[in-house]
Amino acid sequence: MEDDDKNLQSKQPNAKHELTKEEVLELRKKHFSPTVSVSYSNSNPLMILSGSKARLRDDLGNSYLDTRNNVAHIGHQHPHLIQAVQQQIQTLNTNTRYLHPNSALLAKRLADLLPEPLMKVFLVNSGSEANDLALRLARACTKSNNVICVDHAYHGHTLATLDVSPYKFKSREFDTCRTATADADDGTNTGTSNSTSTSTPGRNIIKVPCPDTYRGLHRGEDAAQKYANYVTEACETFQNRGEKVGAFLLEGGMSVAGVILPPPSYLRQCVEAVRSAGGLYIADEVQTGFGRLGECFWAFEYGDSGVVPDIVTVGKPFGNGMPLAAVVTTQEVSDAFDAMGVEYFNTFGGNPVCAAAGLAVLDVIESEGLDKHAAAVGKYLISRFQQLKVELEIIGDVRGSGLFVGIELIRDAKTLEPATIETSFLCTRLKEEYRVLTSIDGPNDNVLVVKPPMVFSNEDVDEFVSAFVSAVNDLSRVDIQSISKTPT
Ligand SMILES: Cc1ncc(COP(=O)(O)O)c(C=O)c1O
Repeated sequence: MEDDDKNLQSKQPNAKHELTKEEVLELRKKHFSPTVSVSYSNSNPLMILSGSKARLRDDLGNSYLDTRNNVAHIGHQHPHLIQAVQQQIQTLNTNTRYLHPNSALLAKRLADLLPEPLMKVFLVNSGSEANDLALRLARACTKSNNVICVDHAYHGHTLATLDVSPYKFKSREFDTCRTATADADDGTNTGTSNSTSTSTPGRNIIKVPCPDTYRGLHRGEDAAQKYANYVTEACETFQNRGEKVGAFLLEGGMSVAGVILPPPSYLRQCVEAVRSAGGLYIADEVQTGFGRLGECFWAFEYGDSGVVPDIVTVGKPFGNGMPLAAVVTTQEVSDAFDAMGVEYFNTFGGNPVCAAAGLAVLDVIESEGLDKHAAAVGKYLISRFQQLKVELEIIGDVRGSGLFVGIELIRDAKTLEPATIETSFLCTRLKEEYRVLTSIDGPNDNVLVVKPPMVFSNEDVDEFVSAFVSAVNDLSRVDIQSISKTPT
């Protein structure tokens, strides 16, 4: 940690753009839409100017432990990546129509990390773009634009991906469409978002319930089958209309849903149903790919599902902050896309500089064994929070794998009433008082989602745990009514 601090100090201050935080806020207020959110806008937004490994430093020189930034996969400002990008940008950066070794090598190395027959790679700029293209590929192959998506999922901000992102539905008005109906096992109504609402953006999209076995509709041994049945029903709905399924879009570990890892055999059952109805399975690995779950390199492999997707999308960590994402698919799907006769051109996707970043990320994951590291540190992190769960009533559930962990906070162990406002307080307090950055997710905004740079260490875990305990103690001394929501 001291070394990291020295690294950070040597990079202070950012001499190029000398603006105070207040001036930056002023400019944003004038020129940005308020829909472009800023973290901690409930308290004191941060102006972060430098980073190293799992630490960030603000304009005042304060150093923060970063438990939330899964884009900086190999750590903030990794020297290998800096060197690779610097070398490439001082040589050439141009559009993607020329031959260049970086993009060809990157495509090969990415394909080699995926099971056969996934081998055709499209390099793009963002997770949204990757999922948008994945939907186009599925449509080209199946000749159907019918999609099954999962409640509380997020797949991107383009028109097509937003429509299959129920996470964003709550504040939008959509056309209504009948979806698979769902009844809770035990009839409990905690007044929270288990959401069986049927609103989706069009009749070609069916939203099925999120396979959450903590507060979701089904919790018992047969939960996997019950949740998979909704997917089967959705397939039947399309088939009864005389239509095929186009795609089933799923994150093997659902991040913004609050770290939901589907129960064993769920994925296999869903994919069997989808394929028998003529559809393809798209695995969104934008958050979870590249070893984050520790025990597996891809979330679709979690629990040894044995299922190979038809299309995989990757993003965020792929460029460690450089805009780089990809879609990987099979020869068959690629041929169907080709047969549409439309050229695919992407000006920036996998340009020499971004591809250099991607190659550097893959080098570091391999040379530093980051997936194995995530497995070991994640185990320690989960065990520390599981111990705390015995002592602290506010912790309802600790779940996840590797460095993809959710800590769900509740008010009442019987009703599972979400501790939304308390979570907001803890997240703010962790930043203000203990200099630890955390993120909140889940439909009730009550899950601390821990997905730090993969270089996060056991020492970092100890620092986080002790800060968390102190913040919970602080919580017992405040008037809940006075807390403002929500730091994002
Ligand atoms: C699972 C998932 N897919 C896709 C995206 C969209 O990626 P991007 O923001 O790079 O467009 C996100 C972004 O948060 C995501 O979490």
